Amino acid sequence: MLKEFRTLSNGIKIPKIGFGTWQIKNGDEAYNSVSLALKNGYIHIDSANGYANEESVGKAIKDAKIPRDKLFVTSKLPSHIKNYKDAKKSFEETLENFGFDYLDLYLIHAPWPWDSIGSNHDLGNIEAWKAMEEFYKAGKIKAIGVSNFSPDDIKNIIEHCEITPHVNQIGFYIGRDQDGTLAYCKENNILVEAYSPLATGKILNHPTILKMAKKYNVSPAQICIRYCLDRNTVPLPKSTHENRIIENSKVDFNISSEDMKVLINLRNVEK
Ligand code: A2P
Repeated sequence: MLKEFRTLSNGIKIPKIGFGTWQIKNGDEAYNSVSLALKNGYIHIDSANGYANEESVGKAIKDAKIPRDKLFVTSKLPSHIKNYKDAKKSFEETLENFGFDYLDLYLIHAPWPWDSIGSNHDLGNIEAWKAMEEFYKAGKIKAIGVSNFSPDDIKNIIEHCEITPHVNQIGFYIGRDQDGTLAYCKENNILVEAYSPLATGKILNHPTILKMAKKYNVSPAQICIRYCLDRNTVPLPKSTHENRIIENSKVDFNISSEDMKVLINLRNVEK
C-alpha cells in the first residue's frame, strides 16, 4: 500500500498514503518519527514550515540514505505570507532547512493567516501563487497546491493565475463533512489530501467505528485511514510510535459499500 500511487493532473505520481508530521517537535521527536516511518516503508512525508520541524525531517530523510527521487516530500508556505517577494524567500529557506534542491509538493498552508481565520487574502494568495508557479516552472517544485482552501479560494487562483492547483490538503476524517470541497476538487482534477485522518485521535473510540473495526478485524485507526482512501483522498496519518506507524500503513482491506454509507453519514463523531 505504501508503494501504491495516485496520479496528479500534471502526471506526477503521489504515494497513496503519506506520513504526517504536524505537532511532531523539531529535534529528536521529528527525527526519530520520520526515521521510523522511512524504515517501515513510508516514502511520502508531509511537513510544513509552520510545523517548525523541516530541519529534523530533512536530516532523517538524508540519514535514511534512500535516493531522493524515490521519496515524495511536501512542505507549505506559512499562512501569514501573502506576497510574492516573501513567498520566494520562504521557499528558499524551506529548501535550505531540508537540505534539498527541490520539493515534490509545495502548498499555500491556508487562505488566511492562522490568527485571522476567515479574513480575505485573495490578492495575496494570487501573489504567493505566482511565486510558486515560477519555482514550479524552474523544476524546483514538482507539483504545487493549496491547503485549507474552500472552493471560492481555489476559484480565485484558477481565475487569476495560470496553473490550477494540483492538490488541496484539508482536514478530513469520518464525520467531518467536506462534500462540497471534495466535489469541487474532483470537478477540477485537484487531488485531495486528508490531514488528521484520525481527527488527532478524537474519533477512535466512537462506538460505530469500534464496531466496524471488530467486524473487519482491524483497528479503529485502520478503519479511519481506509475510509479516507475509499473517499479518493490521500491520508496523512501521524504517529510517534513505531507500532502505530506500521499499523497505519496496513490498510489493504475493503469496507463494503453499505458500511461506507454508514460511515459517510456519521455526524458529531469527535469526542
Ligand atoms: P501518537 O503520536 O502518540 O502515536 P492524526 O493523524 O489524525 O493527526 O492523529 C494523530 C494522533 O493519533 C496522535 O495523537 C497519535 O498519537 C494518535 N495515533 C496515531 N496512530 C494511532 C493508532 N494507530 N492508534 C491509536 N492512536 C494513534
